[in-house]
Formats: sequence, structure tokens, C-alpha cells
Amino acid sequence: MKIQTERPTRFFIKSYGCQMNSYDTQRMEDSLLEAGYKKANAIEDADVAVFNTCCIREKAGEKLFSDLGRLRLLKEKSGGDCLIAVTGCISQFQREELLQRAPYVAIILGPQDIQQIASGVREVMRKDRNKIIATTMNAGDKFRRLSRNFYARNVSESLTIQEGCDNFCTYCVVPFSRGRGFSRPAVDVISEAKKLMDLGVKEIILLGQNVNSYSGEGSDGKTWNLHRVLLELAQLDGLKRLRYITSHPKDIDENMAKAHSDIDILAPSIHLPVQSGSDDVLAKMNRRYSADEYLKCVEMLRKYRPDMAVSSDFIVGFPGETETDFQRTLRLIEEVKFSQGYSFKYSPRPNTAAAKMEDQTPESIKSERLKVLQALLNRQQQEFNHNFVGKRLNVLLTKVGKHKNQLSGRSEYSQAVSVCATNVAIGDIVSVMVTGAASYSLLGAVAE
Ligand code: SAH
Ligand code: SF4
Ligand code: F3S
Repeated sequence: MKIQTERPTRFFIKSYGCQMNSYDTQRMEDSLLEAGYKKANAIEDADVAVFNTCCIREKAGEKLFSDLGRLRLLKEKSGGDCLIAVTGCISQFQREELLQRAPYVAIILGPQDIQQIASGVREVMRKDRNKIIATTMNAGDKFRRLSRNFYARNVSESLTIQEGCDNFCTYCVVPFSRGRGFSRPAVDVISEAKKLMDLGVKEIILLGQNVNSYSGEGSDGKTWNLHRVLLELAQLDGLKRLRYITSHPKDIDENMAKAHSDIDILAPSIHLPVQSGSDDVLAKMNRRYSADEYLKCVEMLRKYRPDMAVSSDFIVGFPGETETDFQRTLRLIEEVKFSQGYSFKYSPRPNTAAAKMEDQTPESIKSERLKVLQALLNRQQQEFNHNFVGKRLNVLLTKVGKHKNQLSGRSEYSQAVSVCATNVAIGDIVSVMVTGAASYSLLGAVAE
């Protein structure tokens, strides 16, 4: 007799965008696993497909719509049924467009409503409801109601402590897609860090849209800043390394700079997006610092940690950016010597102030400037990496490497390092003698 066993419902989550979205994706996974659903290996095998989306630039949005189209076609061909959920920033920022262009999407949840994913899937599958839409922007509620269970984690993991933004840079959708700034209570942050450590996590990366504007309720009832939270986390026995990302230059104070020399597990690296080296452009972007103030900030950080690795984001072709403005950005880069840089062509976003500015930069100039900027940033990154050949680095081993007897991990300066190693394990921090440098990674062996 053949016993009919029902196949468990399988889900697949595709994540776009920043680390905050990756964090949310992981937390949705926790919720779905807790509810008894199983992970599918690929979207093609999923009964439930979740797209956790980003709309920071136009391209990110268009990618979703082409992925949705492809999935629909695939499922039509195979005759399979698939529940489609769209979560994250597009759900919030382009909800109406999403409803219009993809009416078959059954669940739409904004970035602060992802705690509803498991109940939403259940209700739609049971046909209790046809469509679920939630775009409340209530981050406090999200964190209070997210699943208490955490499933498997890697040795290096992120922990969101702050969400949203009050800065309203004129090009940016974040204040509209993730809402205003919200800081989680410090007790929640610390208990989550402990949970992660119970799962074997050795490095925690504190996440925030503007992580250094963190201002959450402490265990003493007072308001704690990022520095205070870092001090508390540094006390946790067994935690090997701490990082935080992303910092706004206007919110770095001397205390935070000093923390990099006082807190031994705090990595000497910082992601500090400058966006432009021109004061005129910075003012039009509403960044609230000048190029000179940015340079002073880097100087202050390096006063306490001369080896501080500084990385940044850049936007080229902001409305009204002249060749002179662009040259100023290049000059600033030459001065700072970045360890890494991410650069983007300015992408006008609906309803943002910059999209309405008159002097939009032509596409051809954006492309030209991006090429020049990226060449310079790549050169700096290579120089930064080459400087370590013949020197030692502390590498947190995070995964198996490509070759036999090789593990790979990250240095304290955030570089990817492949390490020839025996008698060491994932999760160890080892002293590595660097033997070679490629453009984006290093090669080394465990030092005697
Ligand atoms: N909160 C962070 C950045 C978040 S968005 C900060 O203030 O630095 C990540 C990066 O995307 C930004 O640093 C910026 O370089 C880029 N970005 C944001 N909006 C953009 C737009 N409209 N066009 C091009 N790049 C953009
Ligand atoms: Fe966007 Fe500016 Fe806020 Fe960063 S600080 S999230 S760029 S509005
Ligand atoms: Fe994108 Fe939203 Fe992050 S727009 S960059 S996923 S905050």
C-alpha cells in the first residue's frame, strides 16, 4: 500500500539591497521555519517565493519586476503553483505601482511589517484571505513581534540596532521606504547578541541606516548611544570582534573615535560615506558637512587608530555637478586613501527633492565620471591590499576556502583573506602572514 505523505510547504527568499534587508531576510526565514515551513534550495522549487526588495536606485526596482515576470513564466510552464510575496522597500515606496504591475502578488509587506510573513502565508494558503497588504512603518512593533527563535547562523553576523532615517538627503528614498529613525532598546540588542553567540557567532556587525545616531533605552532607563552599547557588548565573554555600519560623518564624535583604541575587539575599520568632495554638491545633497569637515573626521579617527581603514560610498552626476565639483571628489579620495569604495551614478527617485532639481546631469557624463572614479578607487584598494604583503593580519576564519587545506575569512580591516591552514577552525581568529595580494583579496598562511 502506498502511503500518501504530504510534501511540506517550501519557501525561498530572494534578498536585494543592503545589509538591513539581509538581516530582515534572515528574520523572515526564522519566522517561516518556526511556523513549520521548509527552505527550498532554489526559487524554482518553492511553493512560496518571497522577494525582499530594494528601491535605492531605479535599477534595483526594475530588477524585481523582471524577476517576478520570469518566475511567473516558469511556474506557468511547469504548471506549478506558487504564492508570491513582495516585502521590503519597494512594497513601501512603490506600493501602488506594485499592485498595478503585479496584481498576482498575494502578500505585500513593508520593511517594518515583515513579522507578518508566516501568518500571512498561512492565511493565504488556507484561503482565509486573498491578499494581505501591510505598510505601517512601525519599526517598534516589528521588533517586538518578530519570532523569538533564531536558527543557524554563520560565525560573522549582523544585528540591526537602528532603522530608518531623519536626514532626508535630497536624493534618497530611505526616509520614505523605511520611515523615520528608530533605535531598539539596548536590552533587546544585548539579549539578541547573546542568542547569536549561543549559535556560534564570533563577530557581530551592528547595523543601522545611520548606526552612529543610535539612541536607545538602556538597562538603567537612560538613553544610550552607540558607544555605550559597544562597551556593553565588548563585555560578552567569547565575542571576538565588533563592527558597526553605516556611519554618517556628521554623527561621529571624539568619543566614538576613541572607542576604536579603547575597545580591543572593535575593528579598526569604518564605512563612512562621503558621497562627494564638493561643498556645493554636499549642500545640495543636504549632507550637513563640508569636505573639510569630512577630512577632519577621518583625521580624528586616525589620531586614535593610525591604521584605521576607511571605506565610502560615492554618487557621481548629482544634479548640477560640474567638472570642478567632480575633480574635488577625486582630490578628496587622493587625500583620504580609502580601503574600499562603492560608487553609483545618481539615480533620480520619485518624490525626492533632487529628482525635481532642474540641472540633471546627462547620462554620458555620469558614465564617464563613474569610470574615472572607479579606476581611482580600485587603484587605492589594490594599494591598500598590497601594503600588507609580508605583514601580519588577524583573520577571523568564516568559511572553507576554494582549495584543499584553505579557509577564508576577513581581516580586522575587512579584507577578504584566503588562508592556508591546518589545525585551525572556522570561528578562530588567527595571525596570518600575508604572502600575496590580488585586487580584492589577500592570500596568506597561518603565522608561526
Ligand atoms: N545611510 C547611508 C547610506 C544608505 S544608501 C548614508 O547616509 O551614507 C547606500 C548608498 O546608496 C548611499 O551611500 C549612496 O551612495 C547610494 N544612493 C542612495 N540614493 C541614491 C540615488 N538616488 N542614486 C544613486 N545612489 C544613491
Ligand atoms: Fe539616505 Fe541620507 Fe538617510 Fe543615508 S543619511 S539613509 S543617504 S537620507
Ligand atoms: Fe535598499 Fe531599502 Fe536598503 S531601499 S538600500 S533595501 S534600506
